[in-house]
Amino acid sequence: MSKIAIIGSGNIGLSLARGLVSKNYCQPSDIILTRRNIKNMEDERSQGFQTSEDNNEAAKNAHIIVLAVLPQQLKKVLEQIAHSIDPSKHLVVSVASGVSCADVRKSLSEDVEVIRAMPNTAIAIGQSMTCVASDHASSSNLSEVTRLFETVGSVVVINEDLMTAATALCACGIAFFLRSIRAASQGGVEIGFHAHDALKMAVQTAKGAADLLLLHQSHPESEIDKVTSPKGCTIAGLNEMEHNGFSSSLIKGIKLSALKAGELYKD
Ligand SMILES: NC(=O)c1ccc[n+]([C@@H]2O[C@H](COP(=O)([O-])OP(=O)(O)OC[C@H]3O[C@@H](n4cnc5c(N)ncnc54)[C@H](OP(=O)(O)O)[C@@H]3O)[C@@H](O)[C@H]2O)c1
Repeated sequence: MSKIAIIGSGNIGLSLARGLVSKNYCQPSDIILTRRNIKNMEDERSQGFQTSEDNNEAAKNAHIIVLAVLPQQLKKVLEQIAHSIDPSKHLVVSVASGVSCADVRKSLSEDVEVIRAMPNTAIAIGQSMTCVASDHASSSNLSEVTRLFETVGSVVVINEDLMTAATALCACGIAFFLRSIRAASQGGVEIGFHAHDALKMAVQTAKGAADLLLLHQSHPESEIDKVTSPKGCTIAGLNEMEHNGFSSSLIKGIKLSALKAGELYKD
């Protein structure tokens, strides 16, 4: 029996499947991948994954069912697999943005355990920040899903009512940090570097800053203190940025994204 069915093998679904295999969570043959255009999965098939167009059959043969279609495609998928769901056997994991555990249960079975996961696009390189939440799942199933997504990055378990906030900070957050890297590289061009070099320097500097926090487990301000000598150039630049609203604009942007994400889902 396949252990995991990934219903909707697009960006997120395939990245997760590859992560699970590369981190030895399971073998490719333990994963059944579905999509409507099965011809687009020849590569995965040749790598040993099971592939299918039949969501129902895939669900029947799995223990964990990962729903990774777009939110607007989810209703149809839930209708297709509903009669195959066995709450005593199945654990359902949904990555569809904005669809609650209760919504998924309503379409499948009131008794099945449903866990939501919100990854970001860095899942493609095994560096996702994934938030996981459920309104009712057992702690053993939450641990299982945490382990699943730890194969493609870091995981934080949160309350389900914070999933919209997680979308803003982590999923949208990728764009915020990318734009700040782009802005730094443009500053670099203005002070004398060719665009290619400026971007490379900004990217590696950003990566180094993030890694300092991750590896030292330190607070940003304590790392900043190490670079800001009295009357120095770093504090001059940093304070100029703050006078122009650097921290404030990031905080306001994240708040607006969270508001917008919540409204979109209501619509
Ligand atoms: N991308 C992100 O940054 C991100 C972050 C967090 C959460 N999410 C969520 O993750 C989910 C997937 O996003 P994505 O970026 O991976 O989208 P995607 O690349 O468009 O993948 C969706 C896949 O679902 C397949 N599909 C559609 N209808 C299907 C059906 N009836 N049965 C089986 N497969 C079906 C599509 O293939 P066919 O057309 O061949 O069927 C496609 O490969 C979404 O709900 C999104 O909200 C995405």
